Amino acid sequence: MSNLRSLVAKVPKAELHLHIEGTLEPELAFAIAERNGLALPYSSVAELRAAYRFANLQEFLDVYYACAGVLIESRDFYELTWAYLERARDDNIRHAEIFFDPQTHTARGIEFPTVVEGICGALEDGWRKFGMSSRLILCFLRHLDESDALETLAAAMPYRDRVVGVGLDSGERGNPPRKFERVFHRAREAGLVPVAHAGEEGPAEYVREALDVLEVVRIDHGNNALDDPDLVAELVRRQIPLTVCPLSNLKLCVVDDMASHPLKRMLELGLVVTVNSDDPAYFGGYVNDNYVAVAEALGLGEADVVKLARNSFEASLLDEADRTRLSGELTAALTSLERSDGSKP
Ligand code: ADE
Ligand code: ZN
Repeated sequence: MSNLRSLVAKVPKAELHLHIEGTLEPELAFAIAERNGLALPYSSVAELRAAYRFANLQEFLDVYYACAGVLIESRDFYELTWAYLERARDDNIRHAEIFFDPQTHTARGIEFPTVVEGICGALEDGWRKFGMSSRLILCFLRHLDESDALETLAAAMPYRDRVVGVGLDSGERGNPPRKFERVFHRAREAGLVPVAHAGEEGPAEYVREALDVLEVVRIDHGNNALDDPDLVAELVRRQIPLTVCPLSNLKLCVVDDMASHPLKRMLELGLVVTVNSDDPAYFGGYVNDNYVAVAEALGLGEADVVKLARNSFEASLLDEADRTRLSGELTAALTSLERSDGSKP
């Protein structure tokens, strides 16, 4: 299996499901809190880490929103994003599609431009210094109402050049995609690409609604889609990608253990599966850890790892030329691996 870890580390990949607020490591949270004269509801890094035991999505979200409360200045958002990009570079991430939750910040009086400018400053540096491309996706908090989401969409309009898509996150149960039909309609009219979390804790029906009502091009998670064979057939037929997050699913009790994760079944069904980290500071691992954890538990082979990496570029929002370029980097990395160890992944 150490061979597999080394393969995972060496293949270039894209990350397509990553909440920037979910990359806030406890050490950085405390440092930023101190600089901003704020107190976290935990007395130490160790106490905060000890709180990372979640029985469900909502228990996680409570801690995640509390920690995000330390982010005040553009500089804070820059440092948060930069720390993620450095970590992602170490995992051989060549392209990242990043969610942010503006309502988590605007509700505390932080202006939308403060958030976006801090994040985008780091993304631009990631491109200049690492050649890592990125796209920014605005997520609406689905536990809030439609009017709040519409206001948020309006605030994003001056930033149309920096925000390429809209997503839907936060507590899924009781907050179906149809609640945001008009918001997504308006976002699509503005040229924003629609994606949505669906089928993480919610039923297959929410995945269906995300497709039919929100007209999403990609489903975030999608685990529970497997309960509906007709829906699976449609996802396969239309090659709608799923951004799957194995360690997240484990930490949030979406699966009982990694051995029962549906990822292998999803691949066998012909779904376009990708592996992502979701909120890596909270879930115990970044992208490579997710690949290794799920591969070890499900007995995935080298060809599966390569397929997942290839899917990550194919399922990205990049244009065809960039998808082809990055997929070519993957092919070149495999060729050089074959040359160096004589084995054929
Ligand atoms: N916000 C951050 N991570 C999330 C997840 N896994 N599901 C829903 N909302 C989220
Ligand atoms: Zn997520």
